[in-house]
Amino acid sequence: MNILVLGSGGREHTIVWKLSLSDSVTSIHVIPGNPGMADIATTANINLSDQDEILDYAVDNGIDLVVVGPEQPLVDGIADRFREKGIKVFGPGKIGAQLEGSKIFSKEFMVRHGILTSKFDVFTNKEEAVKGIEKYSYPLVIKVDGLAAGKGVLIPKTKEEAIKDLSCIFDERKFGDAGDRVLVEEFISGFEASILCLVDNNNIVPLESARDYKKAYDEDKGLNTGGMGAISPNDKLTDEMIALVEKDVLKKTLNGLKKDNIDFNGVLFIGLIINEDDEPYILEYNVRFGDPETQSVIPKMKNDLADVFMKTVDNELDRLKLEWDERIAVTTILASGGYPESYEKGKEITFGNIDDDVMIFHAGTKLEDGKLVTDGGRVLGVTTLAEDKYKAREKIYKNIDKIHFDEKMYRTDIGL
Ligand code: GLY
Repeated sequence: MNILVLGSGGREHTIVWKLSLSDSVTSIHVIPGNPGMADIATTANINLSDQDEILDYAVDNGIDLVVVGPEQPLVDGIADRFREKGIKVFGPGKIGAQLEGSKIFSKEFMVRHGILTSKFDVFTNKEEAVKGIEKYSYPLVIKVDGLAAGKGVLIPKTKEEAIKDLSCIFDERKFGDAGDRVLVEEFISGFEASILCLVDNNNIVPLESARDYKKAYDEDKGLNTGGMGAISPNDKLTDEMIALVEKDVLKKTLNGLKKDNIDFNGVLFIGLIINEDDEPYILEYNVRFGDPETQSVIPKMKNDLADVFMKTVDNELDRLKLEWDERIAVTTILASGGYPESYEKGKEITFGNIDDDVMIFHAGTKLEDGKLVTDGGRVLGVTTLAEDKYKAREKIYKNIDKIHFDEKMYRTDIGL
């Protein structure tokens, strides 16, 4: 089987690595990919927004299955284009992708299907929003409706901050069209969990749970990032909570998709917050794998990933029995100093003698004059599995010391 993976991050590197272990896979192609994948896949430097060129590439290379990594091509309808051409694709069509592409669509879906989520209002201009936030207490959550590269959720702590945020969205248009509408919602306190689920016509199958560490600095300080690290499983989720999530969140989500005639196929990543009363509230749906959750979850999977993808696209998830490595996986992200705000690129990356049981997943890297250099905010993910998170952490941080680039930045509390 020839597989095409779309994307260039650590999530896609992990997927490509796992696919490379599968006997049924003849070739792996990645658009655009990154240098970490170069020895296990063919990378093609095509822009992810150029759907025609991607489709031509798939046809020319006899691709049997496409796996779409990031959300933007899904929201732009790339999965529908492949399906029209008769090429199998792991990823929802344009309508299903609205569960991530529009925060308001997704919230209305949750309400319509009785899935627990925080109270909210929708506003289309600053004046109404300023009046509308009067009834909320602080901190408050303001989300722009459209995709905003993980930066569209604001959590003002005071009314003054909220008004400033609304000015950024409506007056300064910091988020462009994505901020044409905003969702204002009640802040729920508790702990977060990421549940990635495989979804086909009739089934929703959760993978091992995960937790990501969103803030830039230790002790959850600093700005929100795409994720500075992850562990799997999420050791705060008890078996009882998982059973409750399956009943109250996953089943209702699948029934909702059916009732609304949303033909969803691929992965649905459910961001949850469990409040003090152990109630699971949905924070958001994403229609793709989490990054860096994937770097921790997929290495724990014992199944053949190509088979998992095929069973999903063929609507045979009822025949899939997932098996997991019992160990805990920890991933720490090495980022460029300054991330998630401005940072410099082009710093040379060098490696000492990395332990065999440590995996390095590339994200923001590129080759320049034969040297590996930094090329993004999140540069590398370092993952290992161990009997407990303390042993995993020890190994991770010992190996991080052997990876060098100027202004390397990372959290030291991943897993804790
Ligand atoms: N780690 C969060 C995300 O992938 O959206």
